Amino acid sequence: MSALRAWFRRWSPSAWGWWPDKAYRLEGYRQRLASVQEHLAECLEGAAAGPVSILSMCAGDGRDVIGVLRSHPRRSDVTARLVELNRRSVSAGVRQANAAGLADRVHFVHADATDYATYDLVEPSDVVLVCGVWGHVNAGQRPSLVRALESLCKPGGTVVWTRGVAKSMTRLHDVLSRFPAATWSTERTSVTPDGEFAVVTVRRIGPARERPRTGRIFDFERNAG
Ligand SMILES: C[S@@+](CC[C@H](N)C(=O)[O-])C[C@H]1O[C@@H](n2cnc3c(N)ncnc32)[C@H](O)[C@@H]1O
Repeated sequence: MSALRAWFRRWSPSAWGWWPDKAYRLEGYRQRLASVQEHLAECLEGAAAGPVSILSMCAGDGRDVIGVLRSHPRRSDVTARLVELNRRSVSAGVRQANAAGLADRVHFVHADATDYATYDLVEPSDVVLVCGVWGHVNAGQRPSLVRALESLCKPGGTVVWTRGVAKSMTRLHDVLSRFPAATWSTERTSVTPDGEFAVVTVRRIGPARERPRTGRIFDFERNAG
């Protein structure tokens, strides 16, 4: 039974094809998107001169990254890798990136973002996006995702993440508490005007962590609370 559940969790990505179109019709998600884009733009502005790498885990159609890079002064410095398992979202994202003249800057990776092997050849990034993800990671696996971020984000780099807080702000504090204060600093916390989502930027102040070449980071669940 548990093997079947694990299979279903892993291989039900087709259900997400509708997600970006439907979700971003809603005011709450539009507010979340605007806030994520503000956080991301700020991270790019604060990045050292020269090349800037972005990694987005479970990227959807990448409208957060593409929307910022479309007009950002650092756009020609950026190389973005957007990891997404749903084929429809990847195709939509590639079209949007091409239309924005970002084909050489934004690269979709059609792969499992929850598997270390996907990142085997990926250097730690300056900015990592983990948006719309924590609610799909059960509490027992959240430390594993933070450990992964310690190897996916460069020392000095930033992670932008979101958490639905309409039900309770303890959801925000739970995720914040997973980032040890000795090795991460909270740079900015925003709550969308409607109070539905928190958007947070944390900075890696600890050393680089070695990354396993294979193994699971977490199991993406439909609803992990
Ligand atoms: C809530 S949506 C968030 C999308 C995007 N980050 C955003 O905020 O617009 C979650 C996304 O995770 C993707 N996803 C689910 N499991 C995945 C996996 N194992 N690897 C990569 N993407 C996955 C879904 O297809 C969906 O696009």
